Amino acid sequence: MRRLLMLTLMATSTLGAAVTADRLTELRARMDALQDMRDDLRDALDTKDGAKTAALSGEIVRLLQQDQAVWKEQGFDDVLKINQGTIELAEKIGSQAKNGETQHALESYLALQKSCASCHDLHPEKRVH
Ligand code: HEC
Repeated sequence: MRRLLMLTLMATSTLGAAVTADRLTELRARMDALQDMRDDLRDALDTKDGAKTAALSGEIVRLLQQDQAVWKEQGFDDVLKINQGTIELAEKIGSQAKNGETQHALESYLALQKSCASCHDLHPEKRVH
């Protein structure tokens, strides 16, 4: 009986570690995509390509929304708040680009960059379970 309990406990913790590893792998894949999109977004802003800027910021919103579920589930209120703020900045860039406010869109882009970095500074990956 004791042995069975031990085995069950071991299996459960191994499973838990695998789930955590999967979550981080998925998160990092989304982050790599976010990085590429943010680089392309910068190019679109520099060339004043409003349609492309709006499309890319929409993609960034979509990806960050997927993370939102992760941070909610983990119960990281501080991380969730930064993620929400980053989503709002990406939305702002999109609407500014659509309105032809390129200078404002560029300012929002710089704020977005800072918002990405402020989450990385918290190192939430160390707390993911
Ligand atoms: C709310 C938190 C949060 C926000 C916002 C965020 N990130 Fe991340 N990012 C993370 C975490 C957590 C990792 C994983 C770090 C690790 O495991 O080493 C990460 C990792 C990365 C990585 C490295 C991926 C890898 O392969 O290891 C890149 C690139 C990245 N983020 C880009 C971005 C960009 C660009 C933005 C903004 C558009 C952004 N991130 C916004 C939390 C965030």
